[in-house]
This record gives sequence, C-alpha cells and structure tokens, in this order.
Amino acid sequence: MFEKPAELKKLFEEKVNQAAASADVEQLRIEFLGKKGHVAELMQELRNVPNELKKEAGQKINEVKQFIEGAIAERIEEIKKLEEQKLIDSAESYDESMPINADLGSYHPITLVRREVESIFQSMGFTVEDYSEITDDYNCFEALNIPKHHPARDMQDTYYLSSNQLLKTHTSAAQNTILRKYKASLESGKPIRAIFPGRCFRNEKIDACHENTFFQMEGIMVDEEISISNLIYFMKTMLSEVFQRDITVRLRPGFFPFVEPGFELDISCLICGGKGCPSCKDSGWLELCPCGMIHPNVLTAAGIDPEKYTGFAFGLGMTRLAMMRYGVKDIRVFNSGNLKALSQFTEKSFTRPENESKEA
Ligand code: DAH
Repeated sequence: MFEKPAELKKLFEEKVNQAAASADVEQLRIEFLGKKGHVAELMQELRNVPNELKKEAGQKINEVKQFIEGAIAERIEEIKKLEEQKLIDSAESYDESMPINADLGSYHPITLVRREVESIFQSMGFTVEDYSEITDDYNCFEALNIPKHHPARDMQDTYYLSSNQLLKTHTSAAQNTILRKYKASLESGKPIRAIFPGRCFRNEKIDACHENTFFQMEGIMVDEEISISNLIYFMKTMLSEVFQRDITVRLRPGFFPFVEPGFELDISCLICGGKGCPSCKDSGWLELCPCGMIHPNVLTAAGIDPEKYTGFAFGLGMTRLAMMRYGVKDIRVFNSGNLKALSQFTEKSFTRPENESKEA
C-alpha cells in the first residue's frame, strides 16, 4: 500500500508529459482524479490498511493527489500558451518595411477589433457600457465572490493605489455596477444584455506574450430562465462573425469564483477546421474564452434575486483576439507607439482634419 502512491505518481508523470492537447489533459484528469480514477481507487484501498498506519498512508495519497492537481493545472497553462503561439505564428502578418503616410492617421488594431465585436453584440441587443480603469477591492474581487485571501487573487497580481483603490485587473470588475444599473428594468421584464470592453492592468513581467496593460471584453446576460444553451448560442454566433466563418464551440470545466458552473470555451481550430493539425496539436480545438453561469452570490451582491433570475458571463481577451486576427506575434507592439506596425491594419484610415497640424 505504501508504494502505491509513488507508483501512481510515476505513472502520471510519464503520461502527463505525453499529453499534447487540452483534451488529453482532461482525459488524464478523469483517469487519475475522476470519481472512479486511480486516486479514488487508492482511497478505497485505505479501508484495508491497519488503523495505526491509516494516517500515514492517507497523507501519502493526498500528497500525490495534490501533486497531480498542480501538474494538471500547469500542463493546461503550458498547452494553452503553445496553442495560442502556434495560431499567432500561422496567421498572416504585417510588414514592418511598409512606408508610413504621414498625412493619414489610422485606428489602433485593438480599436478595430473592439468596434467590430461591439457592433456584432449590438446587433444582438446588447448595450455597450463604459467603466473606469480605477476601481476598488469590493468591485474587483469581493462582489465577484472572491473574498480577501482567496487563492484566486494570486492569479491577478494587482496594482494598488495609495487611495485604497486599485487598477482593475479584469473587466469582470464592472459586473456589480452594470447589474445594479439595469436591476430595475430587469424587474420590469427587460433582460440585461451588456458588454463592457476595457483596459486591464496586472503586474506581469513583459515579454512577447505578456503585457501589464491589456484589453478584455466582458459580457453578461441575465433574465428568467437563462441557461447554458443561451451562452453557447451567443458565443457561437459572435465568434463565427468575428472570424467570418462557421465556428463550432465546445465547453470544458473551468474554475472562476464568480461563475458556477464555469467553463473554458474552445473553438474548432481556425487553421484545419477541426480535423487536427500542428496548430491545434491534432486535437482540432483552440481554447479561447472563459465563461460560465453567473454565481448566485454575484447576483445577490447586486440585489438581484438568484431564485428568480439566472445569467451567463464571459471574458474575451481582446488583445489575444487582435493578435490572432492580425497575426501580431509580439504583444508589445500594441503599446509601442510604433506607427510602422500600428498603422497598417486598416483601410479605414482617416484623414487628418485640416485645422490640425502634423506636429500635434
Ligand atoms: N475575469 C476573468 C479573468 O480575467 C475571465 C472570466 C472568466 C470572465 C469567466 C468571465 C467568466 O466573465 O465568466 O481571468
């Protein structure tokens, strides 16, 4: 019995290194941590261990369980990054050597993607909401069911300001305000459908894939009888429009304290259409957007009765989306002010107004 946890760990280590796609890791999770998985089997066997040794054996199993949980989370992150990078590498790129036309200005690529996504959602009846870049602990965390000292806070290394405020780490920080804004009209029979794009800040070490300043777009829909099917329908329609082709989506479990259940939404691979190719590690899927059914505590915090109303929420990474859309391989381009890179994503360039000088 005492050797078994170590053997299980060895078996897991061999397998986890071979897992090339998110789907393989999910398979491993079920095989090792599922209700009928290897760890559960060991727990069952604990019954046959003599009482005086039970504690030690139980500890060993728990250690292995924690190791497997941690390794799975790490592997999922690694695969996610690799998948994204592959997709970005394979997209058509911009040309740094193009000349700049000094008389023309152009929209920033993030603005272009944001406006496009906004107009798609507006056509589906969503309002577009504004929200401050500075907020507070309550809105950014507490109201989202992330109390002080919750481990989920570790994922978002936050810039705190001396005024007891902070720079918002995610667009979810606006949920409470927007839910409150439309609570009365919800109660008079009008569903809440809102998106809120915004700049977010986290203390990240900057490299080609990480920025401390990036864009997200949050969306929520709340009404009586909103279900996961509504969520899937909206995401599928929106992403098909954004990528201008029919997109198939699937949901996998994902943990975020403000949604229950929470999901990671995958789309069928844009390169091979789901058949399997190097960009999707032959899985046919790409991870794109976390989402879920709004947690009852989040509705309650906004004064909305969770017994009567349900809703979904999602958080689209706009910066990542723009990288995929335009084949931008280095995230630093967006905040660089480099016109050679930034001015060539659009034909919708606008002419400088006559009364504005070139130096302005
Ligand atoms: N706010 C999360 C983050 O930045 C993303 C997210 C996950 C938003 C799930 C959602 C959601 O609305 O339902 O990490």
